[in-house]
Amino acid sequence: MTHIAVFGSTNMDLVAYVAKAPQRGETVTGREFRTLPGGKGANQAVAAARAGATVAMIGAVGNDAFGSGLRSALDHSGVDTDLLRTVEGPSGTAHIVVDDDGGNAIVVVPGANASLTALSAGDTAEIAAADALLLQLETPLEGVLAAARAARESGVRTLLTPAPAQPLPPELLAATDLLLPNEHEAAALTGIDDPAAAAAALLSQVPEVVVTLGAAGSLYAARGAAPVTVPARRVTAVDTTGAGDTFVGALAVSLAEGTPMPQALEWASAASALSVQRPGASASMPYRTEIDGAAGGTA
Ligand code: RIB
Ligand code: NA
Repeated sequence: MTHIAVFGSTNMDLVAYVAKAPQRGETVTGREFRTLPGGKGANQAVAAARAGATVAMIGAVGNDAFGSGLRSALDHSGVDTDLLRTVEGPSGTAHIVVDDDGGNAIVVVPGANASLTALSAGDTAEIAAADALLLQLETPLEGVLAAARAARESGVRTLLTPAPAQPLPPELLAATDLLLPNEHEAAALTGIDDPAAAAAALLSQVPEVVVTLGAAGSLYAARGAAPVTVPARRVTAVDTTGAGDTFVGALAVSLAEGTPMPQALEWASAASALSVQRPGASASMPYRTEIDGAAGGTA
């Protein structure tokens, strides 16, 4: 079985569903409130586990009620939480407004995620034993860099989702095999609005780039090859929170199983299309049989 390690955030998502998100100074009445497990790291871990890999989550939750809820949500999806620390203080929270188009606006308060500045010996061993390491930017950069370095030293493939967008140290990009920005992050990293041109520019720093384009699908670029665009399925979105994480988790599994890139992108795209049709981030992620059904075949 494919084995994936994830180093990253775990958040409790506090979600208000509303017709239209409020402007500054405005108050609107929402339709529904839900408390759902999230965080880009934990989301990618759940996506990969449900897509058929064994997954270890390296992260931190607080010693509050959200922390135990987040841990058991990961356990229930079959994610190994032995390296998920419980630290003093609050868990990470994400304060999310989802509108009637399924789009969102998010404030993340890091809480326990801020403690992830270094690796334990156990973390390093776990990363070395994985087929791939998944990284995002909701935890301090020092820790992300340490994890990327550990993977590089063991020859483990690294997939970095540069979200939330921020300037990246060259050393982190140098330790990244596949960079997966969305179109806004690709523009923020390069100053180039066109996703294909931004991806081409990023190839001077990383060997492979996938730009996720939401409803427009994804764009793959690699050094020395023509870019490939894979369209997304047309579905009605109710909650797109975590759709990118679903895509990355499923893609990582498919690639680690040896599936060629365009086919792996289609399979990942089928997974994220399923997730946007259901509320929540991790809670909405499909299992492998569902992905195979929607994609018309296995990864
Ligand atoms: O990528 C989606 C995630 O971002 C949400 O689950 C929320 O926790 C925010 O961190
Ligand atoms: Na969803």
